[in-house]
Amino acid sequence: MGAYELGGKVALVTGGARGIGYETARLMHARGASVAVLDLDGQATREAAERIGERTLAIAADVTDQGAMQAAVAEVVERFGGLDVVVANAGIAPEGATTRTMPPEEWERVVEVNLLGVWRTVRAALPQVSERRGQVVLIGSLASFLNGLMLSPYAAAKAGVEALGRPLRVELAPFGASATVAYFGWVDTEMVRDGLDRQQGGKRMQELLPKAFFKRIKPEEAAAALVRGIEERAPRVFAPKWWRYASAFRGLLNPVFDRRMERDAKVHAAVRGAEADKATARS
Ligand SMILES: NC(=O)c1ccc[n+]([C@@H]2O[C@H](COP(=O)([O-])OP(=O)(O)OC[C@H]3O[C@@H](n4cnc5c(N)ncnc54)[C@H](O)[C@@H]3O)[C@@H](O)[C@H]2O)c1
Repeated sequence: MGAYELGGKVALVTGGARGIGYETARLMHARGASVAVLDLDGQATREAAERIGERTLAIAADVTDQGAMQAAVAEVVERFGGLDVVVANAGIAPEGATTRTMPPEEWERVVEVNLLGVWRTVRAALPQVSERRGQVVLIGSLASFLNGLMLSPYAAAKAGVEALGRPLRVELAPFGASATVAYFGWVDTEMVRDGLDRQQGGKRMQELLPKAFFKRIKPEEAAAALVRGIEERAPRVFAPKWWRYASAFRGLLNPVFDRRMERDAKVHAAVRGAEADKATARS
């Protein structure tokens, strides 16, 4: 497939009020697209759209609400005449905990937002995107293919996002449309600052792996890689780039790392520590 020109196109970015979503919306707008920013909080969403400039629309909606997502797409079509690119970016991270001790409501909410929210976004946008030979962009993660130790709902959802994006790409091809899955490493956003810097679980995780693994890139860098991927209609986007090799060799690497973690005394101690933290918090 050839290059995709963003000038004159219409894009909808969920979770666009801050972080990677905001930077992606800003950059697509700078390339000439009209952009709808969708997020939970009305005021934050309006402010984000205003900061981006003209040719923007702010929509307050929850991606888990199918009716609200249908209405959001209808609003975009009414305002800009159609919808070409949907970026299903909205996501949340749980507080790090073992599967046994994570509150079940929290486990399910993460899957609800990160997988079903993506599906409901895609479902609402698909008629427009396929008719206009556009693009569906799904934000996965390294957790789509790495071991999601102490973040199991996040990993389950992100693996599901990848599994949704691959068949979608094939199914859209006969209509001249496409789908992309993005895999980001650590991006310095509120989600990561909260998870790694403030939460005990995140601090424990950082003790298990070399510092280099947790090196963060800026949201602007993640967005730049993503927008380049959209302009190339790439099937996959990795940022930092070298994660593409870990993904390419996942079939060999995953069993080796899973087995190492399963036997590692430091991992055992971290799991026990995380369970003890939860028990203390409950008492
Ligand atoms: N930051 C990272 O290191 C990283 C790495 C890989 C993947 N990701 C993914 O990138 C995406 C963006 O993450 P971020 O780091 O910019 O996080 P962030 O917390 O800065 O931004 C997420 C945005 O999504 C919005 N949101 C959450 N739930 C929503 C809902 N139900 N409906 C509508 N909006 C909702 C939030 O209000 C927020 O504005 C997420 O899907 C995340 O899983 C992030």
